[in-house]
This record gives sequence, structure tokens and C-alpha cells, in this order.
Amino acid sequence: MPAHILQHPLAAHIITHLRDKTTKPATFRTLTYQLSLLLAIEATRNLETAEKLVDTPLETVTGRVLAHQPIVVVPILRAGLGMVQPFLDTFPDVSVGYIGLERDHETAVARSYYCKLPPLAGRHVFLVDPMLATGGSAVKAIEVAKSKGATDLALATIVSSPEGVAEVEQHHPAVKIFTAALDRTLNARKYIVPGLGDFGDRLYGT
Ligand code: PRP
Ligand code: URA
Repeated sequence: MPAHILQHPLAAHIITHLRDKTTKPATFRTLTYQLSLLLAIEATRNLETAEKLVDTPLETVTGRVLAHQPIVVVPILRAGLGMVQPFLDTFPDVSVGYIGLERDHETAVARSYYCKLPPLAGRHVFLVDPMLATGGSAVKAIEVAKSKGATDLALATIVSSPEGVAEVEQHHPAVKIFTAALDRTLNARKYIVPGLGDFGDRLYGT
């Protein structure tokens, strides 16, 4: 499934400021929150709703509410943590799981160091990770989520590379990818270019 690219003037505005190397961590975190909220809205467009009668002060009307369908948001640590709060603030029934992966600085191969997940079967699972570079981390995280019962999976990212999207598509064609930017390529160190650098370092000032 091809990546769905978020099209919104505010998203373009935010991502430009995230890319700016002079943006400081405190601002970077705020912008990450705002952009992740837009992505969360976009990625949940197809949630089911159910009819509900509600009494306004004037009359009774048939409205719609979210059908009972627990959402699980799973950040890929550490940078994915920056994308969790908008889901928690916005959706009424959401739980959080964690997958810890870290890329080796020389090989860019992701190593797993932590995993704590609630039951995933029958739930809408949103993996969140701001950077989809080689796709190695995302593919590993999807495999872990599937092994814990996830069947309805989406991946939300802030910047993706064509190589990363292709890698996820090849291994997990049913997983929907929502991204705010699809960049040109990867450099020799497997960083996304133009990209925004190391997201985790910029988010946490390390
Ligand atoms: C970054 C990013 C992704 C991964 C993407 O995390 O947040 O998880 O790299 O690269 P890939 O697509 O090539 O696997 P990193 O490993 O730097 O860890 P961090 O979040 O702790 O900074
Ligand atoms: N991880 C990042 O934080 N940035 C990249 O460009 C690639 C992986």
C-alpha cells in the first residue's frame, strides 16, 4: 500500500520549522506534538462510528459517536515517544504499548532492547515513529506487533524515505503508512535527506 502523505498547510509549516537546524528542543517538542495531532487525525479517518440519540436543549437528534474500538498507540522508542500524547489527549479509549529499538551507528541495523505491549488482537494499532529511513526499525516493530496478535496496523511517521516506504511495503503490504513528508533519499550513513537530522537527539536535546 503506498504511503499516504499528509496534505495540510499547517503540516507544511510545522515540518519546515522541524527541519530548521536552529529550532531548539523545547520548540521542537511542541511542533512534534502539533504535527502528530494532525497525523493522528488523518490516520484515524476511517474509525467506525455508531448512531447515538442525544437531547440538545431544543430537541432530540441522532448523532454519531466513536464505536467501541479500543485504540493502541505503540511508540518505537525513543523518538516515537514524542508522538504519543496527541493520541492520549484526543481519543477516549486508548492504551499504550512500547517497543524499544535502536539503530547501530555504524550499520544502521536496529537492535531490540524493550517490549511491553497490551493485547493487540481486535484493536486498531498505530505504530508511531517520526523517522522511516531504511525501514529496518518499522519492519521489526510490525513483526513484533503481529506476533502479539495485531491484524489492523498503521504506521504514522513524520519524515519517510522512499527506501523505507518500499521496505515496509515489501514485507508488510497491508500496513498503511501515514507520513507528513516523503523525502528524496538516504545518505551514505542511512540518514534521510534532506530530512531533519537525528530526531531523538533533537527532541531530547542529546
Ligand atoms: C531512529 C528513528 C527510527 C529509526 C529509523 O531511531 O526514530 O526508529 O531511527 O531508522 P530505520 O528506518 O533505518 O530503522 P534511533 O535508532 O536513532 O533511536 P532513538 O529513537 O532512540 O534516537
Ligand atoms: N533516524 C533519525 O533520527 N534520522 C534519520 O534521518 C534516520 C534515522
